[in-house]
Amino acid sequence: MVENERRTGEERREDAPTREMLERLVEERTEQLRVSEEKLLQRTESAEKARQAMLYMLEDMNESGAAVERALHANEQQLEQMLQNLKDTGSAIALAVEARDPYTAGHQRRVANLAVVIAQEMGLEEEQIEGVRMGATIHDIGKINLPAEILCKPSMLSDMEYMLVKGHPQVGYDILKNIAFPWPVADIAYQHHERLDGSGYPQGLKGEAICLEARIVAVADVVEAMSSHRPYRPGLGVEAALQEVEQGRGTLFDPVVVDTCLRIFREGRFSLEDEEK
Ligand SMILES: [Fe+2]
Repeated sequence: MVENERRTGEERREDAPTREMLERLVEERTEQLRVSEEKLLQRTESAEKARQAMLYMLEDMNESGAAVERALHANEQQLEQMLQNLKDTGSAIALAVEARDPYTAGHQRRVANLAVVIAQEMGLEEEQIEGVRMGATIHDIGKINLPAEILCKPSMLSDMEYMLVKGHPQVGYDILKNIAFPWPVADIAYQHHERLDGSGYPQGLKGEAICLEARIVAVADVVEAMSSHRPYRPGLGVEAALQEVEQGRGTLFDPVVVDTCLRIFREGRFSLEDEEK
């Protein structure tokens, strides 16, 4: 029995890992841990580098974004400034007309007020409405060329005088064509006496060859001119003026513009008398 127990103990000692084996195992594990730790460190380092690179990139992007924003802002300001300069140019021209010919200046202002309301009612874009306003405000600038005796003549014009007056759209166009307005201001001055059927002047343009802005100003011009007093006749009244454009609806004048104009007057949403006050 004792013999058996002793043998089993010896066998057990033989099977048990030796100190060397244990040391080797510990060494192996330690080495594995060291390698893993190194790899982890490397990974952490590359992650840190990637994070840094990304931060630099984001910084760059922010700076570029800010630079783009600054450039856009400067550009916007420049554009606004240019637009303001052009508006001031238009106002200066209107003032020049006013100084020489207050009648035409008042007429242009009232035509502009009516034309803008028609354009708004027709749903034109804000920018296009701005063009209508500017174009209408100086549409008769070509009259600056006419002698005061013709402008203020209290009787009907002679054929020769009438011919001179009919030259004002061309003169206006020549004055305005080289100013870089972002709107068809020169064309409005040039085309506001054109009629849809080609019976107008100076070019005898037809239909949509006449720009929309000029078709709007044409209607507002006739309504204002007929309603108001002229040196050679008293005002004929708004109703007579509206009948005139209604009669020319689709032949002389753009039907949509006429309908819009009639609607805003007849619904009491616009009055030239109010504008005059
Ligand atoms: Fe005119």
